[in-house]
Amino acid sequence: MNSATSQHNSKQDNSSQHNSKRGPVVGVFDSGFGGLTVLRALLPRIPAANYVYLGDTARLPYGAKSQATIARYAVESARFLEDRGCEYLVIACNTATALALEDIRQAVSVPVLGVIEPGARAAKRTVAEPGGDVLVLATAATVQSHAYREACAAVGLRATEVACPLLVPLVEEGWTNHPVTREVLRIYLSQALAKCAPQAVLLGCTHYPLIADAIEQTLRELGSDAVVIDSAEATAEAAEAALTSTIAVSMPASSATFECFATDSVEKFQRLGSLFLRRPIGQVHHLDLGG
Ligand code: DGL
Repeated sequence: MNSATSQHNSKQDNSSQHNSKRGPVVGVFDSGFGGLTVLRALLPRIPAANYVYLGDTARLPYGAKSQATIARYAVESARFLEDRGCEYLVIACNTATALALEDIRQAVSVPVLGVIEPGARAAKRTVAEPGGDVLVLATAATVQSHAYREACAAVGLRATEVACPLLVPLVEEGWTNHPVTREVLRIYLSQALAKCAPQAVLLGCTHYPLIADAIEQTLRELGSDAVVIDSAEATAEAAEAALTSTIAVSMPASSATFECFATDSVEKFQRLGSLFLRRPIGQVHHLDLGG
């Protein structure tokens, strides 16, 4: 059978006790496929872990929804991953991190890492001068939350946040190198560069790493030499540090395993997800989280 429908509250038999002979079980959550760019960074960095990835593809996009809806969806997803035996959660979705990180932390009893603080810290490493300008490209909900502005201010950077709502559907369509996407980028970036002169451009949405080259090229065409930052690597680094200190698991020498759950079509997840993960995705389990 190609897919198996799983119940929201089904606990795996092995979920309650940590077995020191195996690596940690790490849950990675995104509203869809984009978080696979974070999983891609995690796999080589913490190869002893067993990953459970959940893409809430049936309810994507989160980026145009209200805080209450995003929090409800994200909490349900995080609870599923905890019930599945995950000992550590990576919220590999900027929108869920921006709008629901505290709700998720209160709803589960395992440590939870978001992508925004690691992203801001990565920008700090790139922007040498204090008070330097960072341009954050993100979904409308993330921009409205000003989570990036606060995280950047906490490390001494000034962030200009710009919503780019057309980019997620273009990436979902596979138009990563399409003239329409380039034109849309040119419009968004020229409007953004009229407001600030950034030294770094932070990709504040997990879909954007797939068009990082096009973003960089468009910046150059518009006369900006800003460095493009993808927070996936910084998030994986933070997860590695937390896993070796916070839950202090032994890391056996083994290669990472991952299993994927999607709330919509498993075929689409396999096809599109392989682009984000840059490796074939085998079986994907269907999960029904309700409406
Ligand atoms: N994963 C979301 C993010 O990183 C983008 C897709 C969506 O809007 O759900 O913000």
